[in-house]
Amino acid sequence: MIPAIPEIINKEKYGDFDLPREKLEYALNEAIKKIDFAIPTFTDKFPEHSSVNNVYEAVDNDAGWNTGFWTGILWHAYEMTGNEKYKEVALHHIPSFYERIDKKLGTDTHDMGFLYIPSCVAAYKLTGNELAKKSAIMAADHLITRYHEKGKFIQAWGKTGDPEDYRLIVDCLLNIPLLHWATEVTGDPKYREIALKHFDTTIEVCCREDASTYHTYFFDLETGAPKKGVTAQGASDDSAWARGQAWGIYGPLLTYIYEKNEKAMSVFKATASYYLNYLPKDYVAYWDLIFTDGDNEPRDSSSGAICVCGLLEGIKYMDENDPLRKIFVNATKRIMNSLIDNYLTKDIPESNGLLVRATYSKPGDTGVDEMNIWGDYFYMEAIHRMLDPDWKLYW
Ligand code: GLY
Repeated sequence: MIPAIPEIINKEKYGDFDLPREKLEYALNEAIKKIDFAIPTFTDKFPEHSSVNNVYEAVDNDAGWNTGFWTGILWHAYEMTGNEKYKEVALHHIPSFYERIDKKLGTDTHDMGFLYIPSCVAAYKLTGNELAKKSAIMAADHLITRYHEKGKFIQAWGKTGDPEDYRLIVDCLLNIPLLHWATEVTGDPKYREIALKHFDTTIEVCCREDASTYHTYFFDLETGAPKKGVTAQGASDDSAWARGQAWGIYGPLLTYIYEKNEKAMSVFKATASYYLNYLPKDYVAYWDLIFTDGDNEPRDSSSGAICVCGLLEGIKYMDENDPLRKIFVNATKRIMNSLIDNYLTKDIPESNGLLVRATYSKPGDTGVDEMNIWGDYFYMEAIHRMLDPDWKLYW
């Protein structure tokens, strides 16, 4: 459903705030030091999804949903510094993305946007690299094979049609722009048509009346009718998993940029307001929004970085006189300021990532209170967006 926009409970919490450009430049400088430190390890290999004791191990590009983020970090470093070395390493990664989609390595998933947008679409947009373009179109072709016409959704995980996995997940909103991009570059409307139907279904089932979100939603295999919302990485089926809510903030805007779809804008304002109402004192969410100050639970700093990117995108299209816009602007500064002050790896010399205190999956006991590579990616994107509001999206 399209939820009503919740009232911001504590407006003073999002009062005016100054985040000086020098502080963002400092943040960029610290990030670049860590990226330079990481490059020798991650030129032929990629960082694992999450760290162990704040160090990423090196893995091949043949599994998981997250190898594109490291390449995307390099594109941000290249654009912000102009240093060609970042571009060279990022381009060096492209054949591995081609091989992965060509041989279908670890592709029983909808995560084609997460994998191919920050890596290959970015490479094509920034350099015109044809292998990157071809790989990303192949990834879009693969993504639409997971579409079920009966339920009008793209299946998130597992073998297509498997009853155990006959569901979508809210994270899918970040994979949808790959389909819009594919229609734009090929002229073939089939990608966009599926993107729009899948988007509508996702909003219909994942958004609750109070503007919180379900993580995953099952469908009936026989009829295609929506069945029930279930969590995989949240605290309970009815709570708001912090990163899922952040996907629900940024994701709709990545349809809005292609379609100027008012439904997407309404959802963004509602999910963002809900999220801001449940932030603790330091503005960085616990791993599920049911937890707050005093709860002995880990944070998910990655959800903060994703939320900042979403808010920064959304405020571009909001009316200057909309009072919510001012709150969102102040929220971006306050969350980002806290990430810079409290969540950097700068005092951990052995660390080869950017943001500490993220959580991949508390129920799965994976990457809990560690770095994760998408947190690092969206933190770099957030710095880039703040230093250059005209930054052209990879999405
Ligand atoms: N897309 C998977 C996650 O956010 O953990």
